[in-house]
Amino acid sequence: MLMDTSPTKDFLYESLAADLTGLIASGTFRPGDRLPSVRRLSAQRKVSVSTILQAYMLLEDRGLIEARPQSGYYVRSAEGQRLPVSRHDPLPEPEISSPEPDPAQVGLRELVMHVLRDSENPNLVQLGTALPNRDLLPTKRLNRIVATLAREQEEQSNGYFFPPGYEPLRVQIAKRAIVAGCSLSPADIVTTAGCLEAVELCLRAVCQAGDIVAIESPTYFGILQSIEALGLKALEIPTHPRDGISLGALRFALEHNPVRACLVVSNFNNPLGSCMPEEAKRELVDLLAAHEIPLIEDDISGEIYFSEQRPIVAKAFDRKGLVLLCSSFSKDVCPGYRVGWTAPGRFKATVEWLKFASSGTTASLPQMAVAEFIACGSFDHHLRRLRREYAFNVEQMTQAVVRCFPAGTRVTRPAGGFVLWVQLSEMVDSLDLYRQALKVGVTLAPGYIFSASNKYRNFIRLNAAVWSKEVERAIGRLGELVDQEIA
Ligand SMILES: Cc1ncc(COP(=O)(O)O)c(C=O)c1O
Repeated sequence: MLMDTSPTKDFLYESLAADLTGLIASGTFRPGDRLPSVRRLSAQRKVSVSTILQAYMLLEDRGLIEARPQSGYYVRSAEGQRLPVSRHDPLPEPEISSPEPDPAQVGLRELVMHVLRDSENPNLVQLGTALPNRDLLPTKRLNRIVATLAREQEEQSNGYFFPPGYEPLRVQIAKRAIVAGCSLSPADIVTTAGCLEAVELCLRAVCQAGDIVAIESPTYFGILQSIEALGLKALEIPTHPRDGISLGALRFALEHNPVRACLVVSNFNNPLGSCMPEEAKRELVDLLAAHEIPLIEDDISGEIYFSEQRPIVAKAFDRKGLVLLCSSFSKDVCPGYRVGWTAPGRFKATVEWLKFASSGTTASLPQMAVAEFIACGSFDHHLRRLRREYAFNVEQMTQAVVRCFPAGTRVTRPAGGFVLWVQLSEMVDSLDLYRQALKVGVTLAPGYIFSASNKYRNFIRLNAAVWSKEVERAIGRLGELVDQEIA
C-alpha cells in the first residue's frame, strides 16, 4: 500500500488523507467500497467540504481511490492501486482461535513477570508490553494542571476521596459515557487505581475461588494474572480476530459448564484488536442475562478508534444491571497516574466496599488532574491527534511485517488500539524467538502469556504505538530471526 511517510501533516487535508489511507490499508474500507460522501465526512470531521475534496483528490492521485460520476468515491481494486514491492501482500489475518474446551487453572506468573521486567530495560526496543507512545502523552499539559491544582487546592489535593471516588471525575466519566451508548450517572461509578484494579474488584464482587470465568482467547495477560491470583478458572472461548468472542461457542460453553462470569474486552481487544459489532454486543448481553451471568466488560481502548465513530459498549444494552463496565485513562492519557473506574451495575455497593477494603482510596491529585483535563476540553483535542497517529503507526508496522516476515505469516488488522497479533509458522516457538530477540536488543510479547492453556506457541504480540527508524530496523531483525527459525 502506498503510504505517506512524512511524520507531520501540515495541512488538514493531508492528515485526513493519511487517516483514510490507514483505513484502506487496514481493510476497514476495501476495494469496491464507497467512501463516506464529501458532505457527510465534512459534517462529521467538522472541516470544510473543500478540505474533504482535497483529501479525496490526493488519494485519487495516489491511485488509492477513484471518483465515479454521480456516485461518489470508491476504493480501487488491489490491482488498480500502486503498491510497493512486497514479498506477499496483503498478509491474511489469523483464523478464529480454537482454545481448549475445558476450564483451566492459569499458571503464567514467572513468564509474565519476566516480560514486564524487560519492558523497563531502556536498552531494548520495546515491542513487548502495550505501553502507549510516550511522545503522544499529554504529560506537559498534565504537569501544568497538577501544579495549579496542588497550589490552588492544597488541602483537597492531599486529602482522601473515599469510594466511590472524586465526584467531579465521576461527572466527567458519566458525561462521556453517552457517546459510548450508555446513560450513567456519577453515582453509578467507582474510581479505581487503573483498569486492572477495576477488573479485579469486579471479579471479586461476582466470583469466589474455584469459579469458572469465560474469557476471549487470546486475552490480555493482566486479566489472566487476576484470574490466577484469585484462584479462578479460565474457560477460553474461540474469538474472531475482527468480530471478537464467538457467541455460538459461548452459548455452547454456558450449556456445558457452570460459568460464574464472563469477561470480554469488547472494543479493540488486546492482543487481537477485535471489536464486537453492535448487534453481537446486544446478543452477548441478552445471552448472559438469560442465564443471570454477570458480564465484566473492559473498554480500556474504546476511545482509540480509527474509523469515524466511537464503538459503543455492551453496557449500552444492560437492562438488568448485570454488566460491570471497566476502563481507565492509561492507554490514552496517563498510565502512571493510575486512574481507572468501573460502573458495576447492581454490584456497585460490593465493589465500593471491596475497593475500600483493598486499597482504601484512589490517589487524589491524579483524579483531580484527569477531571480537569477532560473538563477543559483538552481530552477531546488530544484524542483526535492520538487516533490519527496510532492509525498511522499501526499501518506502518503492519506494512513492515508484510515486507520483512516470511510467507505464511498472518497478522491482524485492528481498527483501533495499537497492538498487532502475529501468527508465525508452526515451526517457530515464540519463547525461543523472544530469547533470540533479546540478544539483538528487541523485546516482544510471546503468545504463551495470552492463554491459560499454552495455546499460542507460534504467535507474538507487537506494540505498534511507536513508529521510528529504530522500530523499523527492529521489525527487520525480527523478520530475519523468524527466517532463521524456520530455515
Ligand atoms: C485490556 C486491558 N485491560 C487492562 C489493562 C490495564 O490497565 P491499567 O494500566 O489501567 O490498569 C490493559 C493494559 O495493557 C489492557 O490492555
